[in-house]
Amino acid sequence: MALDMTPEQKAIGQGNFQRVVGKLAEAPQQPQGKGMTRRRFMQGLIAGVAAAPISAAAYFAYSNSSFASRPVKAGLIGAGDEGGVLVGEHNPAYVEFIAYSDIRPSNYERIFRGEPTGPRKGFNHHYGNDARSRIRLYEDYRELLQNPEIEMVVIALPLHLHAQVTIEALRAGKHVLCEKLMAWNISQCKQMIHAAQQSDKLLSIGHQRHYSMLYAHAVEVINSGVLGDIRHIRALWHRNNALPRLDAQGREQRENGQLVLRDSWRPAIHSQDLVLQPRIRQLGYKSMEELVRWRIYKRTGGGLMAELGSHQLDACSIFLGKKKPLAVQAVGGKHFYQDDREVEDHVYCTYEFPGANYVPTRPLRRADGTCDYNDMVIVTYSSISTNAFEPYGECVMGTRGTMVIEAEQNVYLWGTAGRNTAVTATTAGGGPRLDASASDPADRRAGDMGQAALGYAPPSRGYKEEMEHLAYCIRMREQGTQADRDALKPRCDGPSAMADAIIALTANQAMKRQQRIAFEENWFRADSMDVPDADMVEERI
Ligand SMILES: NC(=O)c1ccc[n+]([C@@H]2O[C@H](COP(=O)([O-])OP(=O)(O)OC[C@H]3O[C@@H](n4cnc5c(N)ncnc54)[C@H](O)[C@@H]3O)[C@@H](O)[C@H]2O)c1
Repeated sequence: MALDMTPEQKAIGQGNFQRVVGKLAEAPQQPQGKGMTRRRFMQGLIAGVAAAPISAAAYFAYSNSSFASRPVKAGLIGAGDEGGVLVGEHNPAYVEFIAYSDIRPSNYERIFRGEPTGPRKGFNHHYGNDARSRIRLYEDYRELLQNPEIEMVVIALPLHLHAQVTIEALRAGKHVLCEKLMAWNISQCKQMIHAAQQSDKLLSIGHQRHYSMLYAHAVEVINSGVLGDIRHIRALWHRNNALPRLDAQGREQRENGQLVLRDSWRPAIHSQDLVLQPRIRQLGYKSMEELVRWRIYKRTGGGLMAELGSHQLDACSIFLGKKKPLAVQAVGGKHFYQDDREVEDHVYCTYEFPGANYVPTRPLRRADGTCDYNDMVIVTYSSISTNAFEPYGECVMGTRGTMVIEAEQNVYLWGTAGRNTAVTATTAGGGPRLDASASDPADRRAGDMGQAALGYAPPSRGYKEEMEHLAYCIRMREQGTQADRDALKPRCDGPSAMADAIIALTANQAMKRQQRIAFEENWFRADSMDVPDADMVEERI
């Protein structure tokens, strides 16, 4: 994302962000996020109480101290790539997996053993090498749902199954964390919200940025006003899928003499899984290809906007105060692959968001074609499969500064004086603003404090925290009053995630219709039948 930045400029940008995070903690009128104890813990930092980095549990004010001996018993449904990440990242002090369901034999071993590097650490990592004796496999997820010991299910299935399995789980009395995108179409999102209300169970959707401390700090920096008026956010997620796939020895792979391209959405079909071939339709799939490569087919996937764009539009709407966009235009298609995929391999979108002073009744253009003033923030998003020149991320551009969030790992901040300039925040003469003079001891202290707040290790992306937080809500609701029960809900609950799905899937509609589409208020209301994608009717086999 940070195009053409030198390492020195990146270091300056990182230092700037740390200093501003530290300075905002000291500022008397620092913003307060809802339900956060930021002021309290940051004051702890200032007082030198917290020598270690602050945990998300402290930051987001959830802790398992009240139920340390009683983690929530959970079942995993879908033990593939993302199921593996969630298993690897879960904290057994909050969530204890006792069962899992999958239909692909190739994943049965992997989910226990994990992978030697990366986040998929496997059940054995957490529960020991005899984990298999304690974590039961159900080939049919419906049987897992009948296990009365299971309180919560974590769903990491292909997109077309999210609504069906979530609703069945809620009706079976389980709390649910379902992976994003919430559902394949918006009617399904509404049905999931209704099912959660009717069963009085919690529904959380895995947009992990809602639980990332890095993003939480970035939001606080934006909300403080130091970037000035946000005018534009440029977001992207590009991949190098046009390059040849290499084998373990680094040689280019070929099939029937043809180069095999590095396309993560077209994984190989594992020989162990071929046993499923004779009953593939009974299992709910048209073919083995559809089961394994569900992302590239329309019936089972939602394309680049569902898989990648939804994450970043989620981030953009958080940055803009969870505002709903006004309209979207998008183009995209199959511009590279000449294969059987049914979804786009390149997409380019432009979203119009209302700024703080947006006047809905004022036309964007006068009849004579000239512009009238209205406060708009434009978000552009692209996802291309053929060139990952820049790491994925979001670049937030304000009238006073620029902030880049790169690959959920790094945040850089620069003021208007340029990329080579160290800045800090000052509150002299009003609200906080960036000041291009970061050299005195107070600035160094702010930098240290910001660094301590952000932590010294690579930041957690939010997977662990989203499971912890759901477990906390479950246990605390059991103990609380009705008022507490209403307040104790996941940070990314059904309505929030439905908004993300609407934002992502309406871009698909704009591409399909080749039109600018204006968002309608009723789409975002679970009690309205109106949806942007009424033509998306699910096909069951
Ligand atoms: N939050 C994130 O950053 C993130 C990242 C990657 C994927 N995801 C989401 O996670 C979900 C899963 O993606 P993935 O990459 O793990 O896909 P995957 O294909 O690797 O895993 C899906 C698993 O579901 C299993 N499955 C399919 N039908 C089943 C059924 N009827 N019963 C039981 N198991 C069944 C498959 O065998 C497979 O193991 C998707 O919704 C995806 O969008 C989220």
